[in-house]
Amino acid sequence: MENNLKTAFQKNPLSGEITIPPDKSITHRALILSALVKSEIEVKNISLGEDCLRTLEIFKKLGINYRFLSKRNLIVNSSKGLIIPKENTVFDCGNSGTAARLLCGLFSSLEGINCTFIGDESLSKRPMKRIIEPLGLMGAEIKSNDNKLPLIIKGKKLNPVEYNSPNASAQVKSSILLAGLNTKGITRVNEPYLSRNHSEIMLEYLGADIKTGKDEKGYFCEIKKSELTPKNIEISGDISSCAFFMVMGAIVENSKITIKNVGINQTRAGIIDVFKQAQINFEIKNKRKISNEETADITVEYTPDIKPFKINGAQIPRLIDEIPVLAILAVCAKGTSIISDAFDLRNKESDRIKTIVDALKSLDVDVKELEDGFIIKGKDKIDKSAVLETHLDHRLAMSYFVLSLINKKEMIIKDFDCINTSFPEFMELAKDLGYGK
Ligand code: S3P
Repeated sequence: MENNLKTAFQKNPLSGEITIPPDKSITHRALILSALVKSEIEVKNISLGEDCLRTLEIFKKLGINYRFLSKRNLIVNSSKGLIIPKENTVFDCGNSGTAARLLCGLFSSLEGINCTFIGDESLSKRPMKRIIEPLGLMGAEIKSNDNKLPLIIKGKKLNPVEYNSPNASAQVKSSILLAGLNTKGITRVNEPYLSRNHSEIMLEYLGADIKTGKDEKGYFCEIKKSELTPKNIEISGDISSCAFFMVMGAIVENSKITIKNVGINQTRAGIIDVFKQAQINFEIKNKRKISNEETADITVEYTPDIKPFKINGAQIPRLIDEIPVLAILAVCAKGTSIISDAFDLRNKESDRIKTIVDALKSLDVDVKELEDGFIIKGKDKIDKSAVLETHLDHRLAMSYFVLSLINKKEMIIKDFDCINTSFPEFMELAKDLGYGK
């Protein structure tokens, strides 16, 4: 079925206040760890994106019981512990790299489990060597299709390792930590830059024996086999979803948008530093902590004179998922912006370097592809119709939508419903702010 979106120039400002839906990364962790507390707890404000629901469905197959109290709040009952199925069980991770990689770590350490991880077309192309290798060092038994899905796992007792992660990847780090949570001894991960630390924060919140810090080996995280303490968990709003509205506020003439309840954890908030660099009018208010995650409200105002910006090095893991929409911001800047050191963009839901460069070229934007990023020259006006392929990549679809608001001509965004992967409420919120009026 075709689900293409026909876009139109946004004539009027976008304005008002929205509450951003819950964080996808934190929801995955909350669903995973709530399944391990051997008790009944409440998990408040879960992401209803398809990715997170995959994780929930997988734990249902392991005997975890869920009772929704309202749309996003649920009681998770894991009192009986995980019930390991007798037969080989297939777990379908859909589009979710986080589900596949994190659960592969945990399940490798579950004695007696025999399971196969599968996923959709996009996930089946994504590299899994990054987790197969370190988990293999721990003794995990994982068969793969040339380091891609399907992954066939035989769970067993593992040995602790110290792993020097070549890249700052939260999925790799979390996969090893979840295996380490169930492994005697000290499991340690070192990473060159600090990737998002939601796993560490939630593990500590639930009483796991975990230590984090920085030394001559880089950022480290050590975990010992631990029993978790049952505690209710609440999830902050997703800064990666918020990013689309932040950029809309900055580029659509005379707009002013307030986005409430946004997680601004330092390891995720790289976009805020880019907004400072680009001298965008914005304000952060009402800072508070929710289940130990820094949270706030953000107001962004239209900024006619957006400065070009540079993003590289340690900043990259702090905004890796926001790069598609920051590329749109770069199109609106007065000057040339450079994004580099981001090779891993090629391994996301699509090859985001190639897909973004192709899309911008089709709109006559002056863009140069780099091996590890791109150089974008800002353009005064976008006035070109185009058909943009999303490659079923949710973040591309929403980024192209943001760009369409300032395009004088109509665009078609293909397979737009792939946004349901992370953000089913996206269009509803855009309409609440006056989109289409
Ligand atoms: C995620 C980590 C990031 C990010 C992904 C979600 C996570 O990947 O791109 O969307 O929840 O751990 P890497 O840190 O592995 O690059």
